[in-house]
Amino acid sequence: MAGIGVGPLVSLLRPSDGNPAEQRQLVERETLTGGGVNEVVRIGDTVRRPTGPWSTRVHDLLRHLAAQGFQGAPRVRDTSEAGFEILDFLPGDVSNYPPTAAAASVEALRSAAALLRAYHDATVEYARRAPRDGWQVAATEPVEVICHGDYAPHNCVLSGDRVVGIIDFDHAQPGPRLWDVAYAAYRWVPMTAPGNTDGLGTTEEQAARLRVFCDCYGLDDAGRAGLVDATVARLHALVDFMHAQAAAGNAAFAGHIADGHHIQYLNDAKYIRARRAVFERGLQA
Ligand SMILES: Nc1ncnc2c1ncn2[C@@H]1O[C@H](COP(=O)(O)OP(=O)(O)O)[C@@H](O)[C@H]1O
Ligand SMILES: [Mg+2]
Repeated sequence: MAGIGVGPLVSLLRPSDGNPAEQRQLVERETLTGGGVNEVVRIGDTVRRPTGPWSTRVHDLLRHLAAQGFQGAPRVRDTSEAGFEILDFLPGDVSNYPPTAAAASVEALRSAAALLRAYHDATVEYARRAPRDGWQVAATEPVEVICHGDYAPHNCVLSGDRVVGIIDFDHAQPGPRLWDVAYAAYRWVPMTAPGNTDGLGTTEEQAARLRVFCDCYGLDDAGRAGLVDATVARLHALVDFMHAQAAAGNAAFAGHIADGHHIQYLNDAKYIRARRAVFERGLQA
C-alpha cells in the first residue's frame, strides 16, 4: 500500500535551524509515495508538491473550494517558491493497488460517491466563469463542473472506511459531471476485467456496487443511460493522454506504458462494453 506513513523520515535538523516550532517542522519531514508521478514531501501539517503550467488554475480552484466552505480538499498555503506548491496535509490513509480493505469497503464506495457529488456541486458556479484553457487536460464540453480528472482511491483520503478528502487536482478540467463520474465509478467499483489483479468480484457484484455508487452520487436517469459509453470513452481518453505524455518525454507515463497499464485500461474498456447489459440492468434495478 502506498500512502501516508510509509516514506522514510528525513531529519534535516541543524543546530542553526530556527526556533523549536521551526525545528519541529523540519524534523517532521517525510517523503510520501503514491501515484509515482510526483515526489511529494510532507512537512509538518503541509505537503510540498511540484507544480506545472496548469497549477495556477488548480490553485484558483482550491481557493474557490475553500471560500465555499468545502472541507474535503487541501487549502493552498504558499505558491511563492518557483516550481512548488505548499498545500494542507490531509490526515488519514491513502490506498494504492490492490486496494486496502478500507478502500474496498461499501462505506468507502458510498462516501466516495457522496464526496464527489459535494465536490462537483461546490464547483458549479465557478465552472461557469472558469477559463477553459490553461488546465493540464483540455476542457470537455458541455462544461457543468470542474472534473477532478483522477478521482480514484489513490487520490482520496480515508478516515477509517470513510472517504473524507480529495488530493492531487493536477488533472482537473472543466467538463460534464458524467465524464468524472464514469471514471470514478470505474476506479471505485472497480469495473475491471477478470484478469485484472486489482479487481473485485463478478460482473454481477460489480454491477451492484456500481448501483450503490450512482445512487450515492445521485446520478440522474440520463447519466445512468450514458454511463457505460462514458466509461469506455473515458478509458480511451486516458490511454490517449498517457501516450501523448510519454511522447512528450514524461518519464512517469512512459514507465506506466512500459508496465502495460494502458493495455489493462483498454482491456477493461472492452470488458465493460461486452458486459454492458449486466451493468445497465444493475443501474436500472
Ligand atoms: N494534501 C495531501 N494530504 C495528504 N497526503 C497527500 C497530500 N498530497 C499528497 N499526499 C500523499 O502523497 C501521495 C502522492 O501525492 P499525489 O499528489 O497524488 O502525487 P502523484 O502526482 O504522484 O499522484 C499520495 O498518494 C498521498 O499519500
Ligand atoms: Mg496522485
